[in-house]
Amino acid sequence: MLLLHRAVGLGLRQACRLKSTTSRICIQVCSTNDSFQPQCPSLYFSRDKSSTRGWRVVGALLGLGAVLTYRGHRCRAAQESPRIYTREEVKSHSSPETRIWVTLGSEVFDVTEFVGLHPGGPSKLMLAAGGPLEPFWALYGIHNQSHVREILAQYKIGELSPEEKASSTLKTSDPYADDPIRHPALKVNSQCPFNAEPPPELLTENYITPNPIFFTRNHLPVPNLDPDTYRLHIVGPPGGQSLSLSLDDLYQFPKHEITVTLQCAGNRRSEMSQLKEVKGLEWSTGAISTARWAGARLCDVLAQAGHQLCENEAHVCFEGLDSDPMGTAYGASIPLTRAMDPEAEVLLAYEMNGQPLPRDHGFPVRVVVPGVVGARHVKWLGKVSVEPEESYSHWQRRDYKGFSPSVDWDTVDFDSAPSIQELPVQSAITEPKDGEMIESREVTVKGYAWSGGGRAVIRVDVSLDGGLTWQVAQLDGKEQRPGKAWAWRLWQLQAPVPAGEKELNIVCKAVDDSYNVQPDTVAPIWNLRGVLSNAWHRVHVWVAP
Ligand code: MTE
Repeated sequence: MLLLHRAVGLGLRQACRLKSTTSRICIQVCSTNDSFQPQCPSLYFSRDKSSTRGWRVVGALLGLGAVLTYRGHRCRAAQESPRIYTREEVKSHSSPETRIWVTLGSEVFDVTEFVGLHPGGPSKLMLAAGGPLEPFWALYGIHNQSHVREILAQYKIGELSPEEKASSTLKTSDPYADDPIRHPALKVNSQCPFNAEPPPELLTENYITPNPIFFTRNHLPVPNLDPDTYRLHIVGPPGGQSLSLSLDDLYQFPKHEITVTLQCAGNRRSEMSQLKEVKGLEWSTGAISTARWAGARLCDVLAQAGHQLCENEAHVCFEGLDSDPMGTAYGASIPLTRAMDPEAEVLLAYEMNGQPLPRDHGFPVRVVVPGVVGARHVKWLGKVSVEPEESYSHWQRRDYKGFSPSVDWDTVDFDSAPSIQELPVQSAITEPKDGEMIESREVTVKGYAWSGGGRAVIRVDVSLDGGLTWQVAQLDGKEQRPGKAWAWRLWQLQAPVPAGEKELNIVCKAVDDSYNVQPDTVAPIWNLRGVLSNAWHRVHVWVAP
């Protein structure tokens, strides 16, 4: 019985640990044994679920516990008198049939059982099968945490032979070593790859976001491209001619200039993860910025290559020149109808706020798709082609899609949902800050509001009492043409602090010209990836006595 308890306990603890690491394993167990609860608050036992399910789960945990007890035993043995392997032997274990081995430093691990649990998906871990993890961990800095090493330690089976050890400390060149220097004001959400947002107090200081603090969303290292040798490859239609455009060639097209707000689908994700864990970077309200972009219109370039609108559904696929160690490039696509529409103003941009694009934002050329989610604005553009189907890129097909709150990582079917293109109406408060003390009898509330698809923001409502009563904020900046409101409106409200109030629950919500409004809470729009987070934005402040 003691052994049984220990094995189930071990299974539970490990399941709990993996859950916090991978966020993929959502286990709810049923039993009448409360003694397990404190070990992992999200794994709870409920008396009203069927006892059959309870026993099944206990059985599963017992199984996991038994595997881990065995592995723990094997692992201890591997630590005490490690078996010695050559790199050749490790290399021969690179498939489920031969088992999957990897090395880190001089240690050898059999990760066959972990592959299905890998948070980035099995295919990413399989890239390292039979070889060292270092080149991949260097690329995905999230691995450099002690609990990741602890999990890996469970799978240790031995060490590399002493002759091989010298080469095991092999210098993996840091793929991020050549990334540009960034502005210190940016709030960094991940260093490698670099992802950062401006602090709210700087975000709405200017209608146009200065280049150095424009939010950055990179999935891979920043390529260092030579403008003199740079070529943009435009695949021609069947029977037509492809183009290989230098920067000078691109400058020959009529120069088109527009002000466009770019927002990442993950903006305000941190509010979703406060409700329930989601997978993704913890963006606050700053994964959005506005710039004046200049470049050639995509429709002009496509027309020069001989492309026309066709009856059948077609998509314009973009490929970046940033790539992972296997050479897979970032990619995305938009419908051909949008790309060919001169009024949609899709740009192949080479200037941002009157300067050549900064490296972080796609130097020398990126796509700008007004009114559309940031993920489709492909940076470091290398190739454009017209295809009958959407881009096969991971970021088009397996990411940046919305799902019902009830869908989890076990039930999600990425093929069942369309890729995000136009974003919903959005607004957020940038001043005052959550938790701030209001010293005067008047409060100034500032923020931004924007909607996708060129829909103009027509009103921003602000409440000081959590949504019971509302005041209309003043919209700053120019009105934009109907259907072409590509940029945000900054807004502000100055209002007296209601007498006797010790605290204020400030809330904002925007309305666009289709009368779309933001939902009041996060719960009904929560989704496992934490995208499209646009509930009323709420800030709580204190009033000085
Ligand atoms: N293009 C490439 N080549 N690689 C990327 O990682 N990230 C995309 C998009 N284009 C990305 C890319 C995402 S998800 C967003 S939100 C925007 O770029 C961010 O653009 P920014 O970094 O200039 O703000």
